[in-house]
Amino acid sequence: MSGSRVLGTGSALPRRIVTNAELAEQVDTSDEWITARTGIRQRHIASDDETTATLATAAARAALEDAGIAADSIGLIVLATATPDNTFPATATKVQAALGCTGGIAFDVAAVCSGFLYALATADSLLRTGMAKRALVIGAETFSRILDWEDRTTCVLFGDGAGAVVLEAGTGDETQGILGTKLHADGNQHDLLYVDGGPSTTQTVGHVRMRGQEVFRHAVVNLSDVLKEVLEDTGTSADQLDWVVPHQANARILDATARKLGIAPEKVIVTVDRHANTSAASVPLALDVARKDGRIKPGDLVMLEAMGGGFTWGASLIRM
Ligand code: UT7
Repeated sequence: MSGSRVLGTGSALPRRIVTNAELAEQVDTSDEWITARTGIRQRHIASDDETTATLATAAARAALEDAGIAADSIGLIVLATATPDNTFPATATKVQAALGCTGGIAFDVAAVCSGFLYALATADSLLRTGMAKRALVIGAETFSRILDWEDRTTCVLFGDGAGAVVLEAGTGDETQGILGTKLHADGNQHDLLYVDGGPSTTQTVGHVRMRGQEVFRHAVVNLSDVLKEVLEDTGTSADQLDWVVPHQANARILDATARKLGIAPEKVIVTVDRHANTSAASVPLALDVARKDGRIKPGDLVMLEAMGGGFTWGASLIRM
């Protein structure tokens, strides 16, 4: 079976925007520091009535509308999140109920910032085996709920949001849809980026902890390596790529990774300035932004890539 095809995309952001200047009133930071070190200018922060499930549902509805298909034709929902509404059941099942899809498969994937790449690969594999014909792949997060708002080294970096993609099983044409994917994990790096709580350890939700500089160094190496792997596996050269849609953690990581591979900066989709790091939501959010503003067009060759806690990382090449 050939790779799954993207039928539509959608995204959703919380109503409330928080600028760097507003953050600087709460913690010892400045717009200058945040902009220069990360490229972030603002982030969306969920209000009490906005949760990972409500954002995911809104993004999924937008993706279904974009694809022009009804919710009941979806047989599989894979939702990537590190900030589920409840410890269980999976947030994907809440989304399934809200959309009114019945009878299909729905579950969450936990791979933090690379969660969407893991979810996409999982859904693509299940579609290839015939387990379902159409899937919703969602990345949705409310990281604001697990930030330590007194820790300036992390709280300025993240935002909330959701992005979704409708996938359909491939039709046999090997030149269309998802052409190649690589995923990796290295559990030895657990302590560089983690949450210091959880049901089985502290019985609390916990807060994000990160050794930023070390994560930065690993991110540039791992992302450029996995991009090269997917290019080699699919017999593609970097200059054939029309667009790269990276995980939006830091503008300097995007620049350094693109430079290492000789990819022109104008081919890299950047939303980190507006959304900050939305973890699993960042790649589908950026993909949706660039499709809706007309940059990414049908037939374009697009590389998605992400890296996050675990460490986990991956990349996927798609002919749109
Ligand atoms: O999504 C998963 C992947 N995550 C990432 O990829 C994040 C990777 N890491 C990064 O993006 C960067 O390492 C950060 C943005 C987190 C930090 O940037 P940096 O250039 O590595 O800064 P640093 O950690 O070396 O800190 C430099 C200085 C320190 O002060 P001293 O020790 O030089 O006096 C920090 O205390 O900046 C200080 N600092 C801040 N100052 C103002 C740290 N956070 C802030 C802040 N405002 N918010």
